[in-house]
Amino acid sequence: MNTKQLFAPTRTEISGISIADLASKFGTPTYFYDAQTIRDRIAQLQQFDVIRYAQKANSNIAILNLMRLEGVVVDAVSTGEVHRAKAAGYDLTQADHQVVYTADIFDRTALDLVVEHNIPVNCGSPDMIRQLGTAAPGREITLRINPGFGHGHSAKTNTGGDTSKHGIWHEQLDECIAIAKEHNLTVAGLHMHIGSGTDFEHLSQVCDAMLQTALKVGASLKTISAGGGLPTPYKNDDVNIDVDRYFQLWDAVRKQLESEFGHDVSLEIEPGRFLVAESGYLLTEIRAIKKMGEKLYYLVDAGFNNLARPILYGAYHPMSIAFTGESTSEVQDAIVGGPLCESGDIFTQEEGGFVCSRELPVASVGDYLVIECAGAYGFVMGSNYNSKPYAAEVLIDNGDVHLIRRQQTNDDLIAGESIPS
Ligand code: LLP
Repeated sequence: MNTKQLFAPTRTEISGISIADLASKFGTPTYFYDAQTIRDRIAQLQQFDVIRYAQKANSNIAILNLMRLEGVVVDAVSTGEVHRAKAAGYDLTQADHQVVYTADIFDRTALDLVVEHNIPVNCGSPDMIRQLGTAAPGREITLRINPGFGHGHSAKTNTGGDTSKHGIWHEQLDECIAIAKEHNLTVAGLHMHIGSGTDFEHLSQVCDAMLQTALKVGASLKTISAGGGLPTPYKNDDVNIDVDRYFQLWDAVRKQLESEFGHDVSLEIEPGRFLVAESGYLLTEIRAIKKMGEKLYYLVDAGFNNLARPILYGAYHPMSIAFTGESTSEVQDAIVGGPLCESGDIFTQEEGGFVCSRELPVASVGDYLVIECAGAYGFVMGSNYNSKPYAAEVLIDNGDVHLIRRQQTNDDLIAGESIPS
């Protein structure tokens, strides 16, 4: 249990740098990431043989480079993510599987890419096995199995069970092994990921499913992957996951398989959120405060074009105020919204789109509002809706402040468009 409040209602700094200075240097809205928080989370997972970062959570090449320098390898779900990994210095050709391609389909460019660079593939459908086997027989592959159950913080992040499109249905395992054999592919890895932000009980259920599945595949297996899904705290009463206990459960499965197969089995974990969520802050400025009937609105200069999790899942993000004028300890209930011409552009909403208010410090126009725990699925799920440019991203490392992506310009917005002549 946390004794100290994780999230305070006000703040003056991010990673030890004054918010006023950050805002005047980079403007708002801007994403800031604290490098040390990422390193701390990596350190917590060191017991696993391989930490494979699910870069979909935050794929800025500076973040990927940080991961690489810490010995973390990556997962890629598109040719774009493979390209990012390469740009961040990952070696596609190395036998130690620095980059693995995980998906439920190959689009044609992805199939060409994994064949050309010999990138290891985690197959999420029988068709992927066939297509890879036809184009590049004789390889080792990993199968992503849907164990028939799943769990997530929202129905939209549940990736197991028959309402999920992900993975190979557990009852189709034999058929998939046969397809692999037909194409001279060896099933060398198994992978399960049942959902994002799931709870400990469900995560540990995956261990049993993995054990049973792995025993059916047999001694060709060299690797098992626990997938991602480790939850992180977003609220003061959220409890941190017991990583050691989680590792013990997986290690027991691995050891059982090793004694069964008579050789080493490598244990991978594939988190996204866990590594980056808490490192990220979306700094916004309050540009208007207004009342609609009895309801009070703080309107900031970031919208769901910058952070889509609240409108998509009703996700809760902690928020704090950085005063520019006099500070106060008084609080009031406010609804926090953005600038977009869409009534769903509200950061304080529950799943289903129900607008709710949040107790926040009494603030003034010109104060900053920081949306916290925004490092995972924040920037990467942004858009140019309403022709809003992508925000800048900044990495703060040991007091050094690095711009790792400049804000888009208006010309960036129309680059690639053309008027027929
Ligand atoms: N591995 C696979 C195969 C995945 O599909 C995912 C997430 C992960 C690992 C990493 O999951 P994590 O450790 O981050 O929970 N946009 C949603 C989350 C979608 C996750 C999709 N797959 C959100 O903002 O909560």
